[in-house]
Amino acid sequence: MAKLAHAQWSSRMTFVLAAAGSAVGLGNIWRFSYMVGENGGAAFVLVYLACVALVGLPILVAEWLMGRRGQKNPVDTMAELARKNGKPRAWMGIGITGVLAAFLILSFYSVIGGWSLNYTLGTVIGTFSGGDSDSIGALFSNMLANPMTLLGWHTAFMVLVVAIVARGVTKGLESAVRSMMPALVILMLILVGYGMTTGHFGEAMAFMFRPEWSALDGGVVLAAMGQAFFTLSLGMGIMMAYGSYLGQDVNLISTARTVIILDTAIALLAGMAIFPIVFANGLSPGEGPGLIFVTLPLAFGNMAGGTILGLMFFLLLTFAALTSAISLLEPTVEMLEERTSLPRVSAALISGAAVWLLGVAALLSFNVWSDVLVFGLNIFDLLDTFTAKFLLPLTGLGSIVFAAWCLDRKSVEQELGLSAAGVTAWNVIARVVAPIGVVVVFITGVIGLM
Ligand code: PHE
Ligand code: NA
Repeated sequence: MAKLAHAQWSSRMTFVLAAAGSAVGLGNIWRFSYMVGENGGAAFVLVYLACVALVGLPILVAEWLMGRRGQKNPVDTMAELARKNGKPRAWMGIGITGVLAAFLILSFYSVIGGWSLNYTLGTVIGTFSGGDSDSIGALFSNMLANPMTLLGWHTAFMVLVVAIVARGVTKGLESAVRSMMPALVILMLILVGYGMTTGHFGEAMAFMFRPEWSALDGGVVLAAMGQAFFTLSLGMGIMMAYGSYLGQDVNLISTARTVIILDTAIALLAGMAIFPIVFANGLSPGEGPGLIFVTLPLAFGNMAGGTILGLMFFLLLTFAALTSAISLLEPTVEMLEERTSLPRVSAALISGAAVWLLGVAALLSFNVWSDVLVFGLNIFDLLDTFTAKFLLPLTGLGSIVFAAWCLDRKSVEQELGLSAAGVTAWNVIARVVAPIGVVVVFITGVIGLM
């Protein structure tokens, strides 16, 4: 968001598009599918869906609500709301951990954005045509093994992000997001259709939706909750910042429902497209972060019109990744701008360079630094785990506790515009169900990790 002196979104539609632009990204396609595969399938999916509904929805509403009340960046919004409600200034901490999380996430997000750029080119020049699972798997491992390739694409992706953020042109992106979303849904449907032709669609559906509850442990549940936060861009103050530009007439709950349904639909379609290919080619669902890059090129390399569909897919994926990445860089840039009086361009360059550098450490963990382990995790996994499983849930917990317990009742009721029964339901979910859910999942997950 450019410095609009807290102007407001021109319409509800504009706001939905901006929020969807942040939410829909690599998280839905790349991260969702590899997490499902790595965590045993359906049990993970069902816990993820429960987290989205019971924790994600109220926290999304809470972030928007506080942003609209506070009218500032997340750190100052929290400071302001704490002051007005006679609570300690320490609540600002939520804004700060949020900015930190966004910074850390962007570093590895950009590495994957780079893979997506690389595969866009790969489809155009026909690298995958007629490939089988061995040749396509080898292309992927070769990319990982080559630090200069990864570096080049990571750099290209970050340059795009910084260029857009530096110019503050996020407004123009909204119209692009408007056409991106339906196009993405249509392409996913085509890929699901391809999955149906593989003869392994039923197996994939069973893997995704027929749970073996024995597969469920604290680690899986925490992973599912982390994915819910990641995919909805929660726990980073990003949605709070967006909420500060939101007009009073927008209904928060129905808008949250719209964004969540879109985000969830794209993730589920991605899984339904990818797992048939996994089973049809005897690949392992637990492949890890490379899952979509060794499955989808197989589809594009072997289906009619695959080149053009593959090009469209990776372009759309890159574009979705860019709109999310912009929302990830924005908080750091805004903080720098406001706290240091640096001009926007310098703030964007400095934050971008810092993120880029951390991203270099992340990409080296796929090759030369693969045996640099912290708590048994390489740098890439460490960044991903620490943010999705720790920072985001804890920051999100802080937001929902503050919104439900510390904000004065009147302003909450005004913001939500609910009937008396609705307010009761909101109170039960926001005060009890969501916070207890996060705490229980977090504790069982952490015990599971030990
Ligand atoms: N929600 C985005 C995705 O699913 C990623 C993201 C996370 C974007 C956090 C902004 C903030 O890809
Ligand atoms: Na998402």
